[in-house]
Amino acid sequence: MIIHIGELVNIQNALFNRTKEVLSPWENGTPACYTQVYMSAHRTIIEPFKIKVVEPLNCLTRAEREPILTNAGYNLFLVAAKDVTFDFLTDSGTTAMSANQWAAIMVADESYAGSSSFSKFEKVVRNLTGYEFIIPTHQGRAAERLICETIVKPGMKIPSNNHFDTTRANIEFVGAEAIDLVIDEGRDPTSTHPFKANIDLEKLESFCAANAKDIPFGMITLTNNTGGGQPASLANIRSVAALYKKYGIPFIIDACRFAENSFFIKMREAGQAHRTARDIAHEIFSLADGCIMSGKKDGLVNIGGFIALRNEAWVTTLRSLLILTEGFPTYGGLAARDLEAFAVGLDEVLDERYLEYRLAVTRYLAERLNALGIPTVQPPGGHAVYIDAKSFLPHIEPQHFPGQALACELYLAEGVRSCEIGSVMFGKTDSTGCFIPSKLELVRLAFPRRVYTQSHFDYIIEGMQELVTRKEALRGLKLTYDPTLLRHFTARFEPLT
Ligand SMILES: Cc1ncc(COP(=O)(O)O)c(C=O)c1O
Repeated sequence: MIIHIGELVNIQNALFNRTKEVLSPWENGTPACYTQVYMSAHRTIIEPFKIKVVEPLNCLTRAEREPILTNAGYNLFLVAAKDVTFDFLTDSGTTAMSANQWAAIMVADESYAGSSSFSKFEKVVRNLTGYEFIIPTHQGRAAERLICETIVKPGMKIPSNNHFDTTRANIEFVGAEAIDLVIDEGRDPTSTHPFKANIDLEKLESFCAANAKDIPFGMITLTNNTGGGQPASLANIRSVAALYKKYGIPFIIDACRFAENSFFIKMREAGQAHRTARDIAHEIFSLADGCIMSGKKDGLVNIGGFIALRNEAWVTTLRSLLILTEGFPTYGGLAARDLEAFAVGLDEVLDERYLEYRLAVTRYLAERLNALGIPTVQPPGGHAVYIDAKSFLPHIEPQHFPGQALACELYLAEGVRSCEIGSVMFGKTDSTGCFIPSKLELVRLAFPRRVYTQSHFDYIIEGMQELVTRKEALRGLKLTYDPTLLRHFTARFEPLT
């Protein structure tokens, strides 16, 4: 990963200079970790792994991709993975596992009850979080469902920075309300605030004061997927914890990307540069009463999740529902081999060379796209780059889906599969038949962990350079099939002529 650290320091300093008013000042103007890297002979952040197992990359031509996209109704969800070269649809469950994870899989104890693989997993999660009660689930949304069905009642309200879609859906499914209280900068794609996942503390205080009796628990999502993979600061998490405590509200973290958030804190927060990401993660968990986690992100596995709780109060009911719908409490819907790989992944993810490389990937692509005149959500987040298609393709009206048009062109030109987050996903038609566009028209490129290398990104950047020269020629799309529910998965389109 060719990132020149001098350049990086300038970028970071520029970012922090712009946001000094909201942060306490830097100790020496430059975070210690950068000073350290800067002094080293090497100015390149490399992929901190070597490759033992490879998969072929399917490189089709544009002419081969054209009929594939037509047959898929210009919907990338309907394109077969074998016809994609760079799959940036999601960072979830798409990680490449390490040799140690594969080795752990081989020694798994697949006993129905009391498996030693579970004991190993339980110990790792306890050491990481400090929580006593560990409940495995098959993925993040299963953890959400168990908590919502057992703890949340109709009419209750659950505050967070931004709830992820499945968390919101699980809360609403049981008749409660999911409340988003992210700071205003977190809603502004151009704001360079370093901690755009922070909760607005004034809003949280008045919300808790008015609703405490109806709040079964309060949350924060780390990092904030809905807001672009942005982190929350340690100072904010501490204040959120103190507020929940003041109102007697249990604090539960959505910890999917806890390691990326911890490393952002090390890089960006005054007074944190000398700490390890692991140490910061321990403190984050120590501030809360529990967490839910999808291991498909910072667990570095293809499947898995858990609930971890400090106190026993909810555990018996949770385990009863777990047995009914997921499995026995020592496997929770997973094979023991999944628990083994997950335990190793939770440890590996806090390797700082990995985290430095991981965050450099998004920064590298975003900065090069910006240099080509392709605007992205600022600052680059942890797991994805979001292209602002509305600004990039102003000649395509929202009702002709600029994000989807760009996503389709990225596929045709480069074999990149991305995801539109704009009027296809959120646009509506009102009772008079009038189109209501989404506020933003974004194209998300989410990066699988440890899968693609710098030359892949450089190849994509070269293609983007060419695309910029002919962007005026890109045309929008019209809907030919508009399903009523979750239309982005199955909708079909035709290009406008
Ligand atoms: C922040 C966040 N929470 C929860 C989930 C749900 O996790 P899973 O996909 O494992 O069900 C996701 C998935 O993307 C997520 O990003």
